[in-house]
Amino acid sequence: MYTDFFSLSEKPFSVAPDPRFLYLTPAHREALASLIYGIREKMGIVCLIGEVGTGKTTLLYKLMGDLDENIRAAYIFNSKVTFKELLMATSSQLGLRWERKSAFLLLEELRRFLTRQMLDGKIIALIIDEAQNLTPSLLEHIRLLSNMETPRQKLLQILLVGQPELGQKLRGNKLRQLRQRITSLRFISPLEEEDTRSYILHRLKIAGANSPNIFSPEAISRIFQYSRGVPRLINTLCDNAMLIGYGTGKKTIEEVVIDEAIADLEIRPIMDED
Ligand SMILES: Nc1ncnc2c1ncn2[C@@H]1O[C@H](COP(=O)(O)OP(=O)(O)OP(=O)(O)O)[C@@H](O)[C@H]1O
Ligand SMILES: [Mg+2]
Repeated sequence: MYTDFFSLSEKPFSVAPDPRFLYLTPAHREALASLIYGIREKMGIVCLIGEVGTGKTTLLYKLMGDLDENIRAAYIFNSKVTFKELLMATSSQLGLRWERKSAFLLLEELRRFLTRQMLDGKIIALIIDEAQNLTPSLLEHIRLLSNMETPRQKLLQILLVGQPELGQKLRGNKLRQLRQRITSLRFISPLEEEDTRSYILHRLKIAGANSPNIFSPEAISRIFQYSRGVPRLINTLCDNAMLIGYGTGKKTIEEVVIDEAIADLEIRPIMDED
């Protein structure tokens, strides 16, 4: 594969949300810090919004790897679920029995569990990714989940993470009660041109690159222009360009190779239709 050709130890531009490759812009860093703070300080509901492919899930994997020992998290990534399914998935991830139970019993059991954990000094977080898909009714149920509390603290810390449609949903009049309970709201955006350059170099370095010059400066400008700084698109484009570079024996990726990679990517949706 092209990894040997470019003297790399692994592929630098996979589209998996691998937190080892995480590149933190100031906004990403602040988002990560405020999510962790929200859980640690038991702030109830905290929210992260970002465009498609800007690193939300990767950030969550990083967060889950970084949590203190007294914190346990249930991670829900399939948000097209009913409330009962959400409770089942949460219970299952927290090691609770969930089979053959009504939503009412699941909720009661969860409440008992959360109270025990609180008395033990433990914090439990429910992390909901792809939260833009949650229906208004499910979002309202999530508000009720966050209402489980003692006079002094919330029993369950909730992270809502999703694309900008989540923000639009939250702005709706029906969800104003939920909106009021969101104690922190952070945004992450696509990368600026300078960050795009640093992002590419960062990923290459993690993948073991010795040279920072695999992509020419003009190639990087073209990548930025095409991807508009969206990391997932940057990855797909860079991966394709490196494959072309390997196929044609070019150790430095110039702008023309990026153009070729873009042409390949643009033809794909047409091929997919066949
Ligand atoms: N800040 C970043 N640092 C390193 N890699 C990133 C970053 N942001 C995104 N990526 C990479 O881009 C790809 C998409 O990232 P990710 O899946 O985390 O985006 P997302 O915001 O969750 O997208 P979606 O809105 O589709 O759920 C992954 O390969 C990921 O590793
Ligand atoms: Mg995601």
